[in-house]
Amino acid sequence: MSVPLLDLSLQYTQLKEESDALWLDVMSNAAYVGGPRVEQLEKEIAEYCGVKHCIAVGNGTDALFLILEALGIRRGDEVITTSWTFFASIESIAHVGAIPVLVDIEPGTYNIDPAKIEEKITERTKAIMPVHIYGQCCDMDAINDIAARHNLVVVEDACQAIGATYKGKRAGSLARAAAFSFFPTKNLGGAGDGGCITTDDTVLADRMRLVARHGEAQKYIHTAFGTNSRLDALQAGLLSLRLTKLDEWNNQRREAAAYYMQHLEQYFKGAGDLKMPIERDYGEMVYHLFILKSVHAKEIVSYLHSQDIGSALYYPKSLHEQEVLNKLPGFIRPTLPVAEDSASKTFALPCYPGITRAQQDEVLAALKRYF
Ligand SMILES: Cc1ncc(COP(=O)(O)O)c(C=O)c1O
Repeated sequence: MSVPLLDLSLQYTQLKEESDALWLDVMSNAAYVGGPRVEQLEKEIAEYCGVKHCIAVGNGTDALFLILEALGIRRGDEVITTSWTFFASIESIAHVGAIPVLVDIEPGTYNIDPAKIEEKITERTKAIMPVHIYGQCCDMDAINDIAARHNLVVVEDACQAIGATYKGKRAGSLARAAAFSFFPTKNLGGAGDGGCITTDDTVLADRMRLVARHGEAQKYIHTAFGTNSRLDALQAGLLSLRLTKLDEWNNQRREAAAYYMQHLEQYFKGAGDLKMPIERDYGEMVYHLFILKSVHAKEIVSYLHSQDIGSALYYPKSLHEQEVLNKLPGFIRPTLPVAEDSASKTFALPCYPGITRAQQDEVLAALKRYF
């Protein structure tokens, strides 16, 4: 039986009638970008995350860029973030002219290690950007405390973590502003690119909305050099439909992860070197990815492929090891032992809403055969 790393068709088939009707309606009304569906989605996401404002934008990368821009982070400023994330997190920092200062991670959660943040703060530091990696919130109280002591702003990169909680609050409501991605593979994904920003700060929200719409304060009156970052009506309608299923889908991911962990612990007691993901008890992780660690990760991934099972390294390289950073003036390449030791050793197993126990058993049996 073939088991893909991710099966997006299930999200479509579960809402097929509504999604098809939406598509026809958008096409026949020919109102493609912005409009009431986008406004409705913004309301729903703000309510879901428990914040005052949501601004729909073109993608998660833009969301991060727009937050940093609106916060006034500029050339020569430093933003502290993790080395263990998708490239977009640090790209957004570079795009406002600031310098990413990369910090090591906690083993097992792969999130930024709050104990290693303070030593990186300088007089140029303006912000801390924790990334809720793989769908688990960072330890936000620890991070917000450091920020408060040093008068820094905190921005959540919540692109992988919609629905995840921290001490009863949802990702997206844990700092000054947060970025989400609606890329199709995300826990809440559309049929194309999309993203949004959440915040309680009304002044910041107004600035981000302005900059995302060409700085256009009134029709053809521009008060800022902005950009074009909009969501279209089809994505917004589809995301509204899928938002009604998000908690159910996230629970299915959590159940699938629990099943893997229970069985892997039994199989691998004392055998192999597989390291389970660590779920912290301060919140609920939404398993954007189910990640194991092993020195044999590369071989395991290719063995699983040979058995028709989807798997991939997340990530083959940590960001402070990327050569392109040589091109960034002011960037200082740190030594980050935990991130370095994770590169090419962490890999994902299929873990998505709708995966069956039979499919998971197939994955487990293949792993067992490999070892
Ligand atoms: C942690 C993280 N940040 C930012 C992004 C960027 O989101 P998008 O692809 O929507 O631009 C992603 C998407 O892969 C991500 O995983």
